[in-house]
Amino acid sequence: MTISRTGARVERQPLSRYTTLGVGGEAEVWFVSGLEQLAEAMEQPYRVLGGGSNLVIADQGVPERVIRLSGALAERDLEADPALSTAEEIVTGWVGGGVPLPGLVRTLQKMGLSNLEGTVGIPGQVGGSVWMNAGTRFGEMFDGLHTIEIVSPGGVRQVTPDDLAWGYRDSGIPRNHVVSRVRLKLRRADPADVLAKMEHADQARKGQPKNKTPGCAFKNPVLPDGQKVSAGRLIDEAGLKGTQIGQARIAPEHGNFIVNLGGAAAADVHALLDLIRQRVGMPLELEYELWPERP
Ligand code: EPU
Repeated sequence: MTISRTGARVERQPLSRYTTLGVGGEAEVWFVSGLEQLAEAMEQPYRVLGGGSNLVIADQGVPERVIRLSGALAERDLEADPALSTAEEIVTGWVGGGVPLPGLVRTLQKMGLSNLEGTVGIPGQVGGSVWMNAGTRFGEMFDGLHTIEIVSPGGVRQVTPDDLAWGYRDSGIPRNHVVSRVRLKLRRADPADVLAKMEHADQARKGQPKNKTPGCAFKNPVLPDGQKVSAGRLIDEAGLKGTQIGQARIAPEHGNFIVNLGGAAAADVHALLDLIRQRVGMPLELEYELWPERP
C-alpha cells in the first residue's frame, strides 16, 4: 500500500472482491476521499468503480488505475437545504458518489422522504447508480436528483437533470466522468406510504436469483410500436434459461440474469452473452459494463 502525492490510498487488489458477480483480476485501486485526490487519480488512464453491481471484469484484471470513492465522497448530508427547500419539496445537502444506495433508500423512507423508493433493492453506490440511471419498473435515480457534480480530467462541473440527455438506464454522462456528489430532490411523505411502495417494488424481485450476479444482462428492448419487452422473457422464450458454460449460468429463475455458481471465469460470462445474442431474434443492448470493453 502506498499514499499518493495528494493523500489517496493506492493498493493493488483483486477486483473480484468489489463485484457482485465475484469475478475480476487485479488492478491498482485508488481510494480517493476528495476532489483533489480524484483529480490526481485522473492524471493517468483510469476506470471508475462504483458498487460493482453491474460489472463483469476480465480475469486478468485491467491495466488502468481503478478509482473508488471513499471518505468524504462516501458521506451524506440529508438535511434539507433551507435556501432550496419548501414545505413539500426538499433539496438535501451533498450525498457522496460512494454512498451505498440501499442504506440511503432505507434512511429516506424512515425520514418520510419520497422519490427514490422505486430504486429499492439495487445494490449499487449513488455515483454509479446515477451514472447509469439505475432503476426498476417502479422508479429510477433521476426521479430524485436536484444537482449532479461531475468530475472529469477537464475539471468539475455542477449540472441539473435538465442539462443532461438522460433516459432509460442512461444519464447521458460520458464514460469515465465521475459522479462525485449529488443533491437529492425529495417530497415529504408518510413513512408508511413510502414503505408500502418499497414493499411493492420488492415483491417484483422475489423470484430473482439469490446467487452472485451483476443483475440484468441486457436492457429491455423497445418494439417498433414503442412497447418495452422484457429481455428476460425473450431469453426464456429462446429456451436458454439454465444454460451453463463453465461455472456461469443463465439463471433458471429469470432469463436476464447470469449467475456465478462459484469460480466462474469472465470468459464463461462472455460466452453466455454471445449465445443469448445469437439465439434471441432481435438486437439486445448490453446493460452490464465489461472491463475491458468487447466489441
Ligand atoms: N419473464 C419471463 N421469463 C423470464 C423473465 C421474465 O417470462 O425469464 C416475464 C415475467 O413473468 C414478467 C415479465 O417478463 O411477466 C417482466 O419480468 P420482470 O418483472 O422480471 O421485469 P423485467 O423487465 O424482466 C425489470 C428490470 C430489473 C428489475 C425488474 C423488477 C431491466 C432490464 N430489468 O426486469 O432490473 O429488477 O424489472 O423491477 O430493466 C437490472 O436492471 O439489473 C434488473 C434486474
